[in-house]
Amino acid sequence: MNYAEINAQLKALRQEHLLRFYDTLSEDEQSALLRNLEKMDLNYLRAFAERGKEVQRGRIEPIPVLRIPEIEEKKDLFAEEGLKLIREGKAAAVLLAGGMGSRLGHDGPKGTFDIGVTRPVYIFQRLIENLQETVREAGRPVHLFIMTSEANDAETRSFLHSHEFFGYNPSYVHFFTQAMAPAVDEDGKILMETKTAPVSAPNGNGGWLLSMESAALLDLVKKEGIEWLNVFSVDNVLQRICDPVFIGATALSGFASGSKVVQKTDPGERVGVMCREDGRPAVVEYYEMTDSMRTAADKDGHYLYYYGVILNYLFRVSDAVAVMHEKMPVHFAHKKIPCIDEQGRAVVPSEPNGWKFEYFIFDLLHELDGCLVYEVDRAKEFAPVKNRSGADSPESARELLLAQGIRL
Ligand code: UTP
Repeated sequence: MNYAEINAQLKALRQEHLLRFYDTLSEDEQSALLRNLEKMDLNYLRAFAERGKEVQRGRIEPIPVLRIPEIEEKKDLFAEEGLKLIREGKAAAVLLAGGMGSRLGHDGPKGTFDIGVTRPVYIFQRLIENLQETVREAGRPVHLFIMTSEANDAETRSFLHSHEFFGYNPSYVHFFTQAMAPAVDEDGKILMETKTAPVSAPNGNGGWLLSMESAALLDLVKKEGIEWLNVFSVDNVLQRICDPVFIGATALSGFASGSKVVQKTDPGERVGVMCREDGRPAVVEYYEMTDSMRTAADKDGHYLYYYGVILNYLFRVSDAVAVMHEKMPVHFAHKKIPCIDEQGRAVVPSEPNGWKFEYFIFDLLHELDGCLVYEVDRAKEFAPVKNRSGADSPESARELLLAQGIRL
């Protein structure tokens, strides 16, 4: 598209300020700006204009949880089934590493953060070491799909190449890049990052399957006969990946998905909890929970909404693919978004100044008929690295890793 076409399109959406600096730019910069504006997905603006009219949440109820004692009882059966599937090449792992990791504030992709004490131990390394446990147990490699974003793709790839994938078989590693979304100010105007580019941020962890499709990786999934995908986050350095017991339990349950959960430390803990919404699996975020929901309990005093998600899900491929084109809701996150002002000066906000658009993975879960909610011991499987310090920080994660005897 040329200048006039883009200008007309932006005017119709009341976003013509994006061309504010056009006349002050060199020819190359002008072309770069037009290219960046052309590739921007403007559909998010419609969702933003309609915010507040989102569909209200449905009827929320507790969801049954497969608790640790029951898992222990049937562990051999579950492990046998899970290992059979893995040995037949029917399970693979999907690492979601497209996030900005802005709370951690590390200069580089979050997976390149060194959590070691006496030696370097990178987050990517920890995750790969965890997956290697399964590989060793099963006696065969497992395909590992890694989702990056436009912002961190090159750095992620070169980091993993330069560390020789921490011993992982490189022919089993496949990268794909997730889509980006613009960000807007309080009035819905798209923010500019520089004079030649709007702010753009990864569009949330919910688009992974569509992004795999765009990268033609679902063809590989099909060709390899992969039936289950274990999707997990980059920031939990203790989780088991492609855990045979979890895979076996989910496959034997007959459900199309599984979700690892941990018991909350107290009703107020800020994690999303698994529940049922209108009879389907769903997650209610901590900020959506009312006090009465937080403290609702059965007659024995057990809290009803007490199992927090840790972003480790298992999806049966055929079911997830069947629903992936369903319209997923866009979520709006109020954030501090560095940008430039009307004069082109850099702004580093200390308070949230705008909105980012994100798709959430649990909206995909909700499209599926059932989910095995699978409890894991948080001491053994939950060490998140989210914040720079305090709770869920490198410091707290190190303590948890050391308590499990992991050398750092
Ligand atoms: P978070 O929700 O913690 O977001 O991601 P984040 O972007 O990593 O961190 P902050 O909020 O900026 O501090 C949970 C998981 O989802 C992935 C992350 O990489 C992490 O594994 N994610 C998140 C994506 O892959 N893409 C996204 O757009 C967002």
